[in-house]
Amino acid sequence: MLNEQLSKLMVEQVNKELYSAYLYLSMSNFYDEKGLKGIAFWFKTQAKEEYEHAIKFMDYLHDQNEKVTLSLIEAPKGDFSDLKEPLILQLNHEKFVTASINNIYKVATENNDYRSLKFLDWFIEEQAEEERVAQDLLEEFEHVSVDSRGIFEFSERAGARRK
Ligand code: FEO
Repeated sequence: MLNEQLSKLMVEQVNKELYSAYLYLSMSNFYDEKGLKGIAFWFKTQAKEEYEHAIKFMDYLHDQNEKVTLSLIEAPKGDFSDLKEPLILQLNHEKFVTASINNIYKVATENNDYRSLKFLDWFIEEQAEEERVAQDLLEEFEHVSVDSRGIFEFSERAGARRK
């Protein structure tokens, strides 16, 4: 069994990871509907990773004999003002998730829960990677010429990176 607060935070993290998947699917739909299949594929792949993150937390909780009660997943933002907005929101959202993981890490530290800390190490590294990748994508977008060809090529490059 885990410390009660730690268990609660991890169950909440399952919801946050599933919300992340939902948010990125919404972004994927936005780009797909604009004919930008590459960047749509980027976000669809990202959504699958978020689903996997949720499963990792659920499996860990079950390995510790904890109960996981799933809760309502908030509807994500359904539309975006321009092609850049989802890229900004992705970076902000990853920073939010990093803060959430860091908080879980802090509680595990306070409880001298070395097993959970070892489990969480993977997420600490993953969040550094997720933020870096989101930052890179945003910076790359800022450097493309904002004509339809420039955008299309940016989208194709992003999609190719996830294949
Ligand atoms: Fe599961 Fe992108 O954080």
